[in-house]
Amino acid sequence: MREGLQMRRRDFIRAGTLGGLAAGGGIGGLGDPLAAIVGGPGRGVAEGRVRLSSNENPLGISSAAKDALVEAIVLANRYPADQHRALVAKLAAAHEVGEDQVVLGTGSAEVLQMAVQAYAAPRAKLVMAEPTYEAVTNYQRTEAYELVRVPLTPGHEHDLDRMREAAESSGHPALVYLCNPNNPTATITSSAAIDAWIADAPDHVFFLSDEAYIEYVEDERMWSSLPWIAKKRNVLVVRTFSKIYGLAGLRIGYGIAHPDTAARLSDFASRNNINQLAIAAAGASFRDEGLMEKSRVVNRESRQMVEATLDELGLERMPTQANFLMHRINGDLATYRGRMAEAGFLVGRDFPPMLDWNRLSFGLPEDMGRFCDTLRDFRGKGWT
Ligand SMILES: Cc1ncc(COP(=O)(O)O)c(C=O)c1O
Repeated sequence: MREGLQMRRRDFIRAGTLGGLAAGGGIGGLGDPLAAIVGGPGRGVAEGRVRLSSNENPLGISSAAKDALVEAIVLANRYPADQHRALVAKLAAAHEVGEDQVVLGTGSAEVLQMAVQAYAAPRAKLVMAEPTYEAVTNYQRTEAYELVRVPLTPGHEHDLDRMREAAESSGHPALVYLCNPNNPTATITSSAAIDAWIADAPDHVFFLSDEAYIEYVEDERMWSSLPWIAKKRNVLVVRTFSKIYGLAGLRIGYGIAHPDTAARLSDFASRNNINQLAIAAAGASFRDEGLMEKSRVVNRESRQMVEATLDELGLERMPTQANFLMHRINGDLATYRGRMAEAGFLVGRDFPPMLDWNRLSFGLPEDMGRFCDTLRDFRGKGWT
């Protein structure tokens, strides 16, 4: 009954809002183009090319998220405080934390930025792996940090011993960025080892635990740092709706921390930061088992196809626990990228010092099939 009412309301809104927009000539007499878009698949291409460069979800957004977006259009004239609170409550309940422990950001990138700003202090260090996700490096440029980059171990894990030495030796505050799985390598760092450090780290060491890709992880050596939140003020776990939930374009992510830490971070959030559409789509997608399972299945199929092709061609690859992997290209990266673009694929960017490796995001299996054929063709031409 309730569902029936909701459906009727949704149909009404869809007809009223979208039909009204079209009838008003706002979108040029194309009938009901927004409705057609909402009913269609996600876009996988940029400028006619398949985008395998940004670790996005190639499936597009779920139908529940599409419906939620349509419904939320009529809220566009309202500040989102009530909806923001409701999403925070939903996330808090799901993670079994208090509502004062969840901080939303315009993408998890904003949460990372908040942390870098909130924990900046004279003589503070920012300790991170190399290579790793660059955002925190960018945000620290205007802050007081001394940046310390610690190369990954030969096994592609964060070198926790050296990071610890860097973070704890001076006695000054340190922000430790742990990206697990790591971007760009898609490799994991043992959570047991991370836990051992967190357990007896001094309070002046703050852990920024970026779990953007955790939903893809199959290796049991990695788990979330979330349980620490109940015991420690110096841990922040960051999650995103951009990856498995497929909402990268809407910009929404969140952090979970001790209430004091969450309050400190919130001071650095821009006011009313999350928009109505992002809130609506995130609420509809969160822990949607159908969406998550389908994303994992498609990702696995694409991954296995790429791994088999790289092995067949003898191109070294890193083990992956995410929706992308790093592989050798046997040549110059810019040339490789240019040739791939001409063949219809946008791939990776530079991740120094790994300049003879490409970071490849997994697209739809049919696209990866064509990518693999292209790679074989490159081999035939002696390009890789
Ligand atoms: C490890 C990691 N953290 C954070 C982000 C930022 O994602 P977003 O701001 O879209 O949540 C990314 C994006 O690629 C990422 O790879």
